[in-house]
Amino acid sequence: MKDPFRTMEWMGDHIRLLDQTLLPRQEKYISILTVDQMCDAIKRLAVRGAPAIGVAAAMGIALGMLGAPDSDRESFSRRFGEVCRLIAATRPTAVNLFWAVDRMKRVYEAGADLSIAELKQVLVDEAVFMEKEDRMLCEKIGVSGRDLLEEGDTVLTHCNAGGLATAGYGTAIGVIRAAFEQGKNIRVVSDETRPLNQGARITCWELMKLGIPVTLITDNTAGALMQRGEIQKVVVGADRIAANGDAANKIGTFSVAVLARYHQIPFYVAAPLSTIDMSIRTGDTIPIEERDPGEVTRICGVPIAPEGVAVRNIAFDVTPYQLITGIVTEHGRASAPYEKSFEQFFADKPGENNS
Ligand code: MRU
Repeated sequence: MKDPFRTMEWMGDHIRLLDQTLLPRQEKYISILTVDQMCDAIKRLAVRGAPAIGVAAAMGIALGMLGAPDSDRESFSRRFGEVCRLIAATRPTAVNLFWAVDRMKRVYEAGADLSIAELKQVLVDEAVFMEKEDRMLCEKIGVSGRDLLEEGDTVLTHCNAGGLATAGYGTAIGVIRAAFEQGKNIRVVSDETRPLNQGARITCWELMKLGIPVTLITDNTAGALMQRGEIQKVVVGADRIAANGDAANKIGTFSVAVLARYHQIPFYVAAPLSTIDMSIRTGDTIPIEERDPGEVTRICGVPIAPEGVAVRNIAFDVTPYQLITGIVTEHGRASAPYEKSFEQFFADKPGENNS
């Protein structure tokens, strides 16, 4: 099945990315010309979803260094540190962002003997490679997870862990897509995912483009559908997974996991290894982003609450590993005790486990 869109693309001297804030009303690609523009795009969720943020971070660093003056090595190094700091300060929860910054730093350090012009090129090459690699890893996640879904299943998902949250194909949606591509009759139920409605705006748009049957529900409806026996599996993505398997994902995921456990519905998390943070033992210390109250008091710019009301806008929650039936990665499926599986996955990938 051909991809119906391109999340982001390196264009030689700029980055072309689909502005996800405008979906589904407008399918508009924007040009990112500077590292500041990339930081702004990540902060305002024009590009979003943990793996996509990682690739955007790498491309933003490459772009930021492409414009740096060639003359003096010391100021070039200072600029590299500054560009990495700017990118790392955009969003706190998705560990793929920091994983990508570290990977670009390793490439930079390995290029100590290169000229500035050559260094610029290796940074660009790495970022471009990461985009291709991410799409390939998502396809592998799909293959790892597709057998978890059976003919006739209706699968609930939360937020968007699709092609748009990655460089293509998706993580949770990748699993669904791979099962669908096997010829299984799979239907999806998408939570709208307040406050920014990534489920309604993005997941539904994406699945409809792919021809995968999708039904949109308000976040409040998930429990009722489970109670009626209308959901057979839950598959979600993740923004950061602790060593013990606790998984941070879009706010509301934890509630879905509790409902799934009550109804004895398998609850799977799908994510690449770059989302696993072995430096964090449990989910308690995952940094959780809190965002602008205006995202809660307005929908698409229209006020829905009285001016001045107190608001909490916590962007992510943590699902404890005990509620997770399995974690699907490009290296295969992990089950409790997760730390053991993760250590095996990372055994042949030194330096890649975010610790
Ligand atoms: O705030 P967002 O849109 O960047 O959050 C993204 C999510 O939490 C998604 O649910 C996703 O699973 C993680 S990325 C595949």
